[in-house]
Amino acid sequence: MINKDLKVAVLGACADGGFGTIISCAAMVDKTGRSWPGQFSVASDDMLSGMKRLASSLKKKNVISVVQLHHGGIRAVKELCGGVVYGPSEMNFEGINVQALSVEQISTLEDSFVEAARRCEKAGFDGVEIHGAHGYLINQFIDRDINQRSDMYGGSLENRCRFLLNILRKMKTQLSDDFLIGLRLSPENYGNMSGIYLEDHLLLTDMLKQFELDYVHYSLFNVKKYPVEKEFKEQSLLEYLLASWKGSKTLLVAAGNVKSKKDAQELESKGSLICVGKAAICDPDWPNKIEQDLELSEAPFSEYELKQKGLGKAFIDYLRNRRFFEFKY
Ligand SMILES: Cc1cc2nc3c(=O)[nH]c(=O)nc-3n(C[C@H](O)[C@H](O)[C@H](O)COP(=O)(O)O)c2cc1C
Repeated sequence: MINKDLKVAVLGACADGGFGTIISCAAMVDKTGRSWPGQFSVASDDMLSGMKRLASSLKKKNVISVVQLHHGGIRAVKELCGGVVYGPSEMNFEGINVQALSVEQISTLEDSFVEAARRCEKAGFDGVEIHGAHGYLINQFIDRDINQRSDMYGGSLENRCRFLLNILRKMKTQLSDDFLIGLRLSPENYGNMSGIYLEDHLLLTDMLKQFELDYVHYSLFNVKKYPVEKEFKEQSLLEYLLASWKGSKTLLVAAGNVKSKKDAQELESKGSLICVGKAAICDPDWPNKIEQDLELSEAPFSEYELKQKGLGKAFIDYLRNRRFFEFKY
């Protein structure tokens, strides 16, 4: 979606703008998981030179650089991944016949995540974030509605989490101690993306604690939202999640509609680090602006204004088509 030079420039601008950590967009760990044209790939050694270039440009700017590791599963694009789409179970997803992964294929994919992480370490990044959110493959395994397997990867919550837990176990034993391992999760459903029932999510926290992850990153689309599940009405979704980690050293991060200094302060006061997506596209120097109480950019934008911010045409079209921002015309 963003060409290679632009990726270096856009992420570099964020590094210059006061962000402490830069997390890349979802990078595929295996070609069977490619989910959009031009997706950043860390799936093979021929990607190493480009990866090194991005890592070293971020290192020079003194920012923590993290690559997000991703496999689309049933949301991969058939035409972009050899004509076959794989998922936890056989199903029809949006008109596409999905093939169930065999146990051997699942184990190979676990290794692909670890290999990709090792490649990121070799390239000079500071860490990886495993994409367990937004209804992609890891999330699909945990999702009790999508995962209909009856073997060791399906059925009980523990079995449905096995794919993720095996990846973490393998990473913890095979990567250097000082290489960061984070995990992105999205509780509940959002739009067409399946999430994880909150009840399951709180139990998942208990399974995750043994790995002493560097951070867990909640993608909430709105950090202030309340759970949709009727039995959880006492506090906000984020407050339930943060409480489930009480006493743990794992850092917690949340993203979702954080725009202003007040939003950021409120989130910080609850014990969460702050991640911003759209605000960083509008203002790559968002942290500096927040710090200095400067005026923030606000949609609607014209294409010209977004180009002035360093964004390319393909990315602007993507933002427009996905309605991430209001456009002036
Ligand atoms: C253009 C764009 C691309 C995104 N790409 C990713 C991605 O690759 N991986 C991911 O986990 N989230 C991705 N997101 C979601 C954001 O990380 C974030 O969770 C979401 O936009 C809500 O936060 P915000 O309100 O601060 O934007 C993307 C969002 C936008 C707007």
